[in-house]
Amino acid sequence: MSEILTLALSKGRIYKDTLPLLAHAGIVPLEDPEKSRKLIIETTRPDVRLIIVRASDVPTYVQHGGADIGVAGKDVLMEHGGEGLYEPVDLEIAKCRLMTAGPVNAEPVQGRLRVATKFVNSTRRYYAEQGQQVDIIKLYGSMELAPLVGMADRIVDVVDTGNTLKANGLVPMELIAHISSRLVVSKASMKMKHDKVKEFITIIEQAVAKQ
Ligand code: ATP
Ligand code: PRP
Repeated sequence: MSEILTLALSKGRIYKDTLPLLAHAGIVPLEDPEKSRKLIIETTRPDVRLIIVRASDVPTYVQHGGADIGVAGKDVLMEHGGEGLYEPVDLEIAKCRLMTAGPVNAEPVQGRLRVATKFVNSTRRYYAEQGQQVDIIKLYGSMELAPLVGMADRIVDVVDTGNTLKANGLVPMELIAHISSRLVVSKASMKMKHDKVKEFITIIEQAVAKQ
């Protein structure tokens, strides 16, 4: 029986931007995950299937053997820590910046800065590197709201055009990291399905070089 390669992708921009790269490898999904409720999608290559997961769950699925390969933002990988994963290709898609942000004309903060974010680990690491003690408030989304309701002095989130911040009276402040999405490969799959995984990486590298 031929080995099956399972790829973990998230819906939305990662799926949309990964499709042309997969097409280069002759891989076309047989269903559109944006329309179907199925979480396992077969492709035109019988030996390749997609699983559709939350963006922040991609590294977890790859780490724990739920998928051989995944596509995840560097923000998500920094937060996850990368255990059990190789990160062989920068796909140069879904580019943005991980930044701190706060209210326009923010008053200097007395005492510890309160920072709302879903990127708790990256935020802790960043402020520790700055030698600044902060209180971190974990959120799962809509971070922009936290300063508006007086719950936080700063947020840490990804920024592209800056429109989301602007619409909420916030401005980008410090750059934490430039972000793009990466191909991640399970260390176990790299060993157990070496030739197949290597072939896939090479073809995706070629697709990135062409895009
Ligand atoms: P989850 O569903 O796990 O909460 P999410 O809603 O943040 O994740 P997406 O919005 O699909 O997931 O974002 C996927 C990735 O795309 C992010 O991890 C980030 O690397 C990148 N990204 C997020 N927002 C933007 C943006 N506005 N412009 C470009 N890239 C972005
Ligand atoms: C993402 C992210 C920011 C926004 C930044 O949200 O969470 O809020 O993009 O982009 P901008 O600087 O161009 O405004 P998205 O629109 O993907 O919605 P989400 O919160 O559901 O991920």
